[in-house]
This record gives sequence, C-alpha cells and structure tokens, in this order.
Amino acid sequence: MIVTIDGVAASGKSSVASGVARALGIPYVSSGFLYRAATLLALEAGLPPSDPAPLLALLRGRPLRLEPLAGGNRVWQGERDLTPGLHSSRVDAGVSAVARLPEVRAWVDEELRALPEPFVAEGRDMGTNVFPHADAKFYLTASPRVRAERRAQERGEDAGTVEAALIERDRRDAAQSAPAPDARVIDTGPLTLEGVIGAVLAALPA
Ligand code: ADP
Ligand code: CDP
Repeated sequence: MIVTIDGVAASGKSSVASGVARALGIPYVSSGFLYRAATLLALEAGLPPSDPAPLLALLRGRPLRLEPLAGGNRVWQGERDLTPGLHSSRVDAGVSAVARLPEVRAWVDEELRALPEPFVAEGRDMGTNVFPHADAKFYLTASPRVRAERRAQERGEDAGTVEAALIERDRRDAAQSAPAPDARVIDTGPLTLEGVIGAVLAALPA
C-alpha cells in the first residue's frame, strides 16, 4: 500500500505523514529531504544550480541513503548524517532552484520508486508524478500566515520573515506542486495535528 501526502511548504506534511504511518505501523518517506540534501551538497561544493551535470556526478559518485525512520527521516552520505543541515534558511532559499532541474527530479524519483512498500510518501508531486497509482492521496493546505506561525514557533524565528520566505518558495515551487485530481484536499488551518491525522486515517480505503 502507498499513501501520498502532498502540499505547500510547512502545511504539516511530514508531521501528518509521520502520525499516519505510525498509526498504520508502516514507514513514511520525506521526498523533500532528498531535494534538501542535493541542495546542501551543491551549496557546499559551490555548484551553480544552472548546471546539473556536476551535481548529478556528485550524487551518483557518493550515493545518498534516505532512512525512513518513523520518528523522522534521516539522509546519509556514507557515514555522514546530512540531516542536521537540511533545514537551514540557506537550504530553504536554494532548494526550489535545485528541485526545478529535471535531472535532479529524475534522481529523486528513482530513489523513491526503489523503496519497498508499504509506506506513506510526502512531498509535492508524490500523488501526481511519482506514485500516480497510490491507494490514497491527500493534499494539505493552510494560509501563509498560519503556516508561518507554525514554522516560526518550530525554529524560534520571526513569523513575518518566515511568511515572506514561505510565499516566495510556494511561488518558485508552483511548477512542481499540484494536487492530484484524485487527491482529497485538507485545509489544516482550523484543525489540530491529531485532527488532520484522524481525517486522513478515516478516509483510507478499508
Ligand atoms: P511540512 O512537512 O509540510 O513542512 P511540518 O510537518 O514540518 O510541515 O509541520 C509544520 C509544523 O506545523 C509542525 O511543527 C507541526 O507540528 C505544526 N502543526 C500545528 N498544527 C498543525 C496541524 N493542524 N496540521 C499539521 N501540522 C500542524
Ligand atoms: O517541509 P517543507 O514543505 O518546508 O519543504 P520540503 O517538503 O522539505 O521540500 C523542500 C523543497 O523540496 C520544496 O520547497 C521543493 O522545492 C522541493 N520538493 C519538490 O520539488 N518535490 C517534492 N516532492 C518534495 C520537495
């Protein structure tokens, strides 16, 4: 079984995917972690996002491993745990440009499709491109203000600054983020996290 949870930035995808996966006793995978890891490596190597060839050589030369832990995914490059560096403002600001590269998208899709079922997959295009035959699909939304307040609280940052960055990232991600025609859209704004997880679980096929 595959359940997909897509949505805009900071809409609750990974928290909801984690809760749903725990309730089902299966892993969840955060596709954004792979885009973030590629971005971190590109930034560290000083690679321009306009030229995918050296980045792909780097990703294929020293392969990354997405570890789908129930408590939170991790990304490894050999013995190095890249996870702590994935959610910096620098990676946030650069990730959309890297994620726009078709070669990078193909690399992520290949990594995800190699994972053994069952799992919950979250991201932007899980229900549309990567797993179009998923058993159940969801798309999470919430207003930029609500999302910014949640993320600002999580990171101890200023909500106004976070909101502007989220709006800009949504704009840059628009080409690679859309609800599948058969996805159930959930506005998480008026709901608690447990409420969203409950709504997803209630909508799963028996
Ligand atoms: P995403 O994976 O879409 O970026 P996260 O799962 O990181 O989003 O969620 C952002 C924050 O919002 C988390 O701290 C999460 O606990 C919080 N949150 C608060 N209320 C809700 C809700 N009703 N639905 C989803 N997430 C919520
Ligand atoms: O958690 P948040 O919504 O802030 O970001 P994320 O899910 O970790 O995704 C980070 C970035 O990766 C997004 O802003 C997109 O640019 C890209 N991404 C994508 O293009 N396709 C996906 N399936 C997942 C992420």
